[in-house]
Amino acid sequence: MVFAGRQKNNKNAGEEWYLGKYEIGRTLGEGNFGKVKYAKDIQTQHSFAIKIIDKTRVIKLKISDQIKREISALKLLKHPNVVRLHEVLASKTKIYMVLEYVNGGELFDTISTNGKQQESNARKLFQQLIDGVSYCHDRGVFHRDLKLENVLLDANGNIKISDFGLSALPEHIREDGLLHTTCGSPNYVAPEVLSNRGYDGRASDTWSCGVILYVMLTGYLPFDDRNLAVIYQKIAKGDARLPKWMSLGAKNLVKRILDPNPKTRITMRDIKLDEWFKEGYTPAKPNDDEVMSVQETAVENQESRTYINAFELIGMCSSLDLSGFFEKEDVSERKVRFTSTLLPKELLERIEHTVTHMGFGVEKCNGKLKIIEEHKEHSESSRLSVTAEVFEINPSLYVVELRKNCGEVSIYRQLCDKLMKEFGVSSNQEHLATKLVEAS
Ligand code: ADE
Repeated sequence: MVFAGRQKNNKNAGEEWYLGKYEIGRTLGEGNFGKVKYAKDIQTQHSFAIKIIDKTRVIKLKISDQIKREISALKLLKHPNVVRLHEVLASKTKIYMVLEYVNGGELFDTISTNGKQQESNARKLFQQLIDGVSYCHDRGVFHRDLKLENVLLDANGNIKISDFGLSALPEHIREDGLLHTTCGSPNYVAPEVLSNRGYDGRASDTWSCGVILYVMLTGYLPFDDRNLAVIYQKIAKGDARLPKWMSLGAKNLVKRILDPNPKTRITMRDIKLDEWFKEGYTPAKPNDDEVMSVQETAVENQESRTYINAFELIGMCSSLDLSGFFEKEDVSERKVRFTSTLLPKELLERIEHTVTHMGFGVEKCNGKLKIIEEHKEHSESSRLSVTAEVFEINPSLYVVELRKNCGEVSIYRQLCDKLMKEFGVSSNQEHLATKLVEAS
C-alpha cells in the first residue's frame, strides 16, 4: 500500500513527501493556480510534473471553471507537442494534476538567455507549435493563452505546449459560433479579442502563434510598451515592425498571421501550405489511438481515505461538475476590466455618480478615480480602496479598469457588479479573472 501525504522518514529528504505512488520533490514552477512540483513514480521511476491546485485559492480567485476547463481540455489531448495529463487526484483541500514531465525549461528562458533563434530553429519550433495547436483546434480545444511561458522544451529541444487553463471547449461557444470570454496575456492577445465583439478561438490562437514566431525570430515582442493602453493600441493597429534583416519568406508569413482582421488572417491549414513554413516539415503523429490515458487511481492514506481519484472528483462525466467543491464566483479578486464605447469623461462621471450613491468616497487624481470605503469603524488597511482608470484602445473604444488596492473582496465584488450593471456588462457564466466586455 502506498500512503498519501506522509512525510518521508529521511533526514536528507528536504521537501520530499509522498502522494500515493508519487514521491514529490522540488518546485518546477509557479503557475496561475499553484505550484508545479517534480514527482517520481516510485514503482516505475518515471518522472512527472504535478500541478498542485489549492482549492481555497481557487475559491478566492474565482477560477473554478478555469480548472474544470483545464482538466476537461487536457484529457482530450494526446499529441507529442502538447503536455499530457496522466491522472488527476484530489484531497479535501487540493487538486493534483499529474502531467508529463518536460525537462528543457520554458521557451521564454531560452530566448531570454540566448536571444533570437536561428531562422531554421525558429521554423522547426514554429512547425511543432502549429502542429500541436492545430491538433487541439481540430478537437475543439482552443488554448487562448499561448505565450512563450506556456511553451516548454523537452530534452531534445522539441516543443510541448502547457497550461491549458484558459482553454475553451465548444460549450463556451455561443450560438453565433464565436467565443465570448476575454483572457490571455496582453502582449499576445489578438485585436478582435480586445474589441470583444465575439471571436473565433482558432484565429486568435493563430495570432498568438504569430507573436511567438516573431519573438523567436527577433528576440523581442512585436507589440510592447510599459503602458498597457499603448500595447492595446499597437495591437489594435496590428502594424508589427518587421526588421530589414528578416528573410522575405518569414516576413511574409508573420505579416499574414499578424493580420488584425481575423477574417482575412491566414488559417492553420494555409500556414501549413506556406513555402517558408513547409521547408523541412514533417507533421507529428498524434497518439490518439492510445487507450485510457487518464488513469483511474485511488490513493489512500493510513487512517482514512482522504484522497479520491479524478473520476470520483469530477464524475468523469461530460458535465465535469465540481460545483460541490467550488463556489461560483465571477469577478476577479484584484482587477476587473471591461470595454466601453463611452468617452472617458462620461465613464468616470458615471462611475463617480454610482459609487457616491453607494456611499463610497471619491478622490480624483491624474485622470483616475480613487474609490474609498468610508466606514469609520474599519481600519485604514481593511477599508476598500479601488482605483478606476480608463485606457483608450482606439478613439471609439476604451477599457475601464477597476483595480483593488486593499480591502474586502466581497465589497469589491459588490462595487464591480454594480458598475458592470451600470454599463450594461453582464456578469455572465464565464468565471475569469479579467473581463473585457463591450458595454452597450
Ligand atoms: N513546469 C510547468 N509544467 C511543467 C511540466 N509539465 N514539466 C516540467 N516543468 C513544468
